[in-house]
Amino acid sequence: MSAPKYHLTSYGCQMNKLDSELVESKLRQRGYVAAAAEADADVVLINTCSVRQHAEDRVWSKLGKLRVRKRTEPQLVVGVLGCMAQEHKRYLLSRMPHVDLVVGPSAFGDIDDTVEQARSKNGQIAAEREPARTKHEVAGAGVLSVDLGVSGDRIVRDVRVRPHRSQAFVSVMRGCNMPCTYCIVPTTRGDEVSRPIADLVEETQRLCDDGVTEITLLGQTVNAYGRDLTGQDATLAKLLRALHAIPSLRRLAFITSHPNFLNQELIDALAELPKVARYLHLPAQSGSNAVLKAMRRGYTTERYLLRIDQLRAKAPDIELHSDFIVGYPGETAADFEATVAFVKQVGFAQSYVFKYSPRPGTLAAELPDDVPEPEKERRNAVLLAVQEELTLAKNQALVGQTVEVLVEGDSKVAGRFSGRTAHHRLVHFAASDRELIGQYVPVRVTEALAHSCLGELLAHDAAQEGRNDPAEASA
Ligand code: 5AD
Ligand code: SF4
Repeated sequence: MSAPKYHLTSYGCQMNKLDSELVESKLRQRGYVAAAAEADADVVLINTCSVRQHAEDRVWSKLGKLRVRKRTEPQLVVGVLGCMAQEHKRYLLSRMPHVDLVVGPSAFGDIDDTVEQARSKNGQIAAEREPARTKHEVAGAGVLSVDLGVSGDRIVRDVRVRPHRSQAFVSVMRGCNMPCTYCIVPTTRGDEVSRPIADLVEETQRLCDDGVTEITLLGQTVNAYGRDLTGQDATLAKLLRALHAIPSLRRLAFITSHPNFLNQELIDALAELPKVARYLHLPAQSGSNAVLKAMRRGYTTERYLLRIDQLRAKAPDIELHSDFIVGYPGETAADFEATVAFVKQVGFAQSYVFKYSPRPGTLAAELPDDVPEPEKERRNAVLLAVQEELTLAKNQALVGQTVEVLVEGDSKVAGRFSGRTAHHRLVHFAASDRELIGQYVPVRVTEALAHSCLGELLAHDAAQEGRNDPAEASA
């Protein structure tokens, strides 16, 4: 009998993508193989995101299509994983009989057993299927649900399962304890749980032994890492220093930071550790103190600016990335203008801009969603345009300079590769030698675009590849 095939689609954040890698590794260890296409799969899994309505809508529509498919393929296993599984568990279990598994985030430790059980149940159902019974009742007979837990952290990671040869994510903590009024993450992912430094060093070492040279540490509030590990003196700065000592590691990034936990210890680590990536994702969310207060972000714009002044005094080459929400309940035109001014004042290198989307169960969802959709659209477009101009100016400043690029793979344009600098700038350049993928190469920037740079590959000495100097011409 041929190996069972799975197909896994991921929505949402990097954390979800890493969770999906862990699920894949469990299934592969169990003898499953990845299906070439979803239509060929015996098991279809969807790792979901609840942060905005749009992400949820895509999943509901996909589940609608799978319902149709399951009418003719009752043995097909359909699983909903991640934040929507947690958030909509009751609805999925009671109203979506074609869904066999509902598994919340962090409960992937025995996902292979759960999938196996569902497969054998559905196999029996398909074999015994009586024409008189409705498809709905039959398919609904075997719903399995797994509760939120922390078993995900205990999975021994198969470091070979990863999308990139030289890049990998490492989850340092789960959950979030912050009170942001608009955000569903604390509900879906639960309280902060940090992993001990020793475990993280061990996992990173194994990844580096397997050829990884760039690690990105993941946490919803990654710079609050360790505050739940009482008595262990674990902080992000200490973790960065411990990982920095791994000789074959060349770049070490971390996302996402909260402004309230950007302290001097972390600033010193950023200034002193050359392998640490030269960007900081530090979402401000708004540039209006009234909105920040309503969001319960716990800082003012003045405090944010003070922190980044301290950062820039010690590590002037670090670039700042942010997230912004436009159209939060009660956000006036003047509040929005304050955000525009703030973005310009800080000079972010990159920002993600989101239209406020009420999430049922959050505090903000109790408030009237009173910024009309066309106005949200307008604010979204204005802020994006302001950010694009800033990004373009930063990219233009790089023209003529040589940057070190970690080659990630093919660019969308044929005959070009793309990669990123230590500042996380995307650079495209003409090349065809696939051996370059995963290497650090010098590229001279020739043209600046709004979201990336074009450049030309310079001759380089392959023997230099091992050197641990991620220095780059600063923008
Ligand atoms: N509506 C819009 N954007 C949101 N985000 C989080 N919750 C919401 C919401 N309800 C954004 C924040 C966060 C990013 C991951 O998603 O900007 O930083
Ligand atoms: Fe959500 Fe705020 Fe936690 Fe970020 S810090 S995950 S926005 S609650």
